[in-house]
Amino acid sequence: MGRIDRLLAAMTLAEKIGQLNMAAGSGAVTGPGAWHELQEGIRSGRVGNVLNVWGVEVEALQRLAVEHSRLGIPLLVGLDVVHGHRTIFPVPLAEACLFDPDTWASTARAAAAEAAADGVNLTFAPMVDVARDPRWGRIVEGPGEDPWVAAEFAAAKTRGFQGATLRGTAGIAVTAKHLCGYGAVTAGREYASVDLSERTLHEVHLPPFAAAIAAGAAAIMPAFIDLAGVPMTANVPLLRGWLRGRRGFDGVVISDYNAIAELRNHGVAADIVAAATLALQAGIDIDMASEAYAQGLPQALQRGLITPSLLDESVLRVLCLKERLGLFDDPYRRGAVAKGPDTTRRLAREVARRAIVLLSHRSPVLPLSPHIGRLAVVGPMASAGGEMLGPWSAAGRREDSVSILEGLKTALPRCRIDSVPGVPIREEDLRGLPDAIERCRAAERVILCLGEDASMSGEGGSRADLGLPGCQRVLAEAMLDIGRPVIVLLTSGRPLAVPWLFERADAVLATWFLGSEAGNAIADVLTGKFDATGKLPVTWPRHGGQVPIFYGERPTGRPAKPGERLSSSYLDVPATPQFHFGHGLCYGACTLHNLRCAPEQVRAGESVEVSVAVRNESTRAAEAALFLFVRDPVASIARPVLELKGVRRIALAAGESGDLTWRLPVAALAFVGADLEPVLEPGRFEIHVGQSADPRGFLSCDIEVSS
Ligand code: NOJ
Repeated sequence: MGRIDRLLAAMTLAEKIGQLNMAAGSGAVTGPGAWHELQEGIRSGRVGNVLNVWGVEVEALQRLAVEHSRLGIPLLVGLDVVHGHRTIFPVPLAEACLFDPDTWASTARAAAAEAAADGVNLTFAPMVDVARDPRWGRIVEGPGEDPWVAAEFAAAKTRGFQGATLRGTAGIAVTAKHLCGYGAVTAGREYASVDLSERTLHEVHLPPFAAAIAAGAAAIMPAFIDLAGVPMTANVPLLRGWLRGRRGFDGVVISDYNAIAELRNHGVAADIVAAATLALQAGIDIDMASEAYAQGLPQALQRGLITPSLLDESVLRVLCLKERLGLFDDPYRRGAVAKGPDTTRRLAREVARRAIVLLSHRSPVLPLSPHIGRLAVVGPMASAGGEMLGPWSAAGRREDSVSILEGLKTALPRCRIDSVPGVPIREEDLRGLPDAIERCRAAERVILCLGEDASMSGEGGSRADLGLPGCQRVLAEAMLDIGRPVIVLLTSGRPLAVPWLFERADAVLATWFLGSEAGNAIADVLTGKFDATGKLPVTWPRHGGQVPIFYGERPTGRPAKPGERLSSSYLDVPATPQFHFGHGLCYGACTLHNLRCAPEQVRAGESVEVSVAVRNESTRAAEAALFLFVRDPVASIARPVLELKGVRRIALAAGESGDLTWRLPVAALAFVGADLEPVLEPGRFEIHVGQSADPRGFLSCDIEVSS
């Protein structure tokens, strides 16, 4: 009998349920209420895992568990280390703009090392919900609209956080979340019901989870939502059938915060016993913070609603994870890790500047000249260093984060920089406007810092209106009316529908929430020390009424035709987005030439080599991102108008040319067939390569697949 089986055999019922219980500490508040008498719970074995604690507190709690509880079982210590721990990296939506799995893995690695040094051994990340509706605040936490990108992101983050083995002291276990479909909440409203077709579930929302599992994700968190009436916390077909059955996942399933008790609100459980029963039957191992297992499982057992072996299976999975993390051998090992040389801030700056997307550049106002004499840095985000951290920054410190103003002052020491907020972020207060106008009149350039505060996206951050909050539009229009060149920086957790701004501003950059190094990174790009290279991982709408909006929609029988009423369009706004998926300008300009697909006739099991030449047409170095899309124009089930199959980047010196090549396996052309199994249908496929999903920039060729 191994250690874990011996432990299981020695456990009382209360101790078993304790291992399935994760209680909240008070280091961060991420749900309703913390566990009272946490210490006593741990000592008595009724609390086997904690969340929302880090640093010195962890060691004290871990000691209680290991040295003062009857069986000495160490704790899982979970925290939302989503985009950094002490050093905060750009929010995931921003990091997605890099389209670079190696970098995604390295920021996870660095965050894991910092979190592990603070005693954390489990993160509730990566969040890999595909999101196509920017009203939903949590779009900020994930990699955007595309399932292929989300799958790459899920695998990279899992590798990065966990490292080669979970025993490593600089790695922490991941919880890929939120299975599944949370990004499709009705009308973008937080926690609302979801109703998706099986096909969309399998084609769009499940692939990132499959990728996380294939990469070895230790844990999975089901979403708060219900799918067509079946809450994910009690979803037997998806949790037992798909996750455990089809994907063979043998790791730990952790409920979302209070989600088991909330099964009563969902209308599927009459009381806490029923809620606990449904969740355990669905295979939820750990109850996060709802006390439903503690309160409901004893009775559920007594009444025969669940079997002792079902309970034991879950306990075993939790103990196995603790063993895999090396906690039984040395429960204090993570907290005791000495900090290495601090390269993390450097990485944060590097990633942050690469995440910036130059959305529009109507007149050549960028990069700023190093000799610029006078700048006005105006707007409520200019000095809002703390806001730059974004929605998940439990251990991040506001005082460690660099504001836009600070970054620009450091980068341009000889420039006179005037700065005022002008208006607040959210409130309607125009008293600062005259002062802002005055300062801008004298400036050579106006840097207008607008956007949302960090709490306006993330959990509970849904917005019906995708415009600028408060009276920022009034400020912006006043600045634009002055007639000085205006460069707008948009801080936000989502695309903002501000077409009027794109029409008038000289340049607009999406700067998201870039983390601890935001100001320095923004200064790097504005001054041209670093080019703007970020590309949009989401389609940017013109108007909130266009959402959900994404490039991979299915064709319609009546495609949009401008001026034709009976076509798929709107009467009041164009059907096209403001900016396409993949869009992002740079200071240089690259063109594509000579797309080749070889061979053009292929069979199942073979692959096609797709290559394209890229030329930097500008007089400065440039980096291009190329997107490889396919289209299956005629199939038994209509395929999306475009499907992404690869993204590559190339850096070119002024005037230089280069080639990019993909090996596209024919298997990648398969899709989810009528029986929800993958099917490859022979016939013609279109290959399109472009610098975004805008078809006007595509080079295209066809291939013929035979069976
Ligand atoms: C609720 C959120 O939905 C989830 O993403 C997070 O991990 C937990 N709270 C814990 O903070």
